[in-house]
Amino acid sequence: MDFEKLIDEARAVSQKAYAPYSGFQVGAALLGEDGSVHVGCNVENASYSLTVCAERSAVASAVSVGVKRFRAVAIVTNGDSPVGPCGACRQVLSEFAQELIVISEAGGLRKQWRLGELLPEPFEGLPESPGPRQG
Ligand code: THU
Repeated sequence: MDFEKLIDEARAVSQKAYAPYSGFQVGAALLGEDGSVHVGCNVENASYSLTVCAERSAVASAVSVGVKRFRAVAIVTNGDSPVGPCGACRQVLSEFAQELIVISEAGGLRKQWRLGELLPEPFEGLPESPGPRQG
């Protein structure tokens, strides 16, 4: 699976977004280390703070089928320029992969980062907790 295909998957799922409040449609496609792809879109709610972002939808979908190691995530929105994942999604993604490649596309533009650049110091748990990336 190359990144072009991953971006295509994110673009396709962005069309499924439920975003009647913001109008901002987001699709995310996570590439597992095993080559599998897991997609998610944003799901908004009348009680705005209950909205779930596309990236966290994709993580839930992947973990639900037993995939917890990832190489990359592609994000596509209907905005004018590429956006990075929100802070909450950066933290959730970092649970599984600090070296994750993050690719974002919108308005015909593309950006790419490593997750470690976007969130250099994630919360890694309480002193006695197993901590993230435990398999
Ligand atoms: N959103 C995402 O899906 N991912 C992000 O990383 C940032 C924001 C969604 C949440 C909401 O439905 C809309 O974009 C506007 O914030």
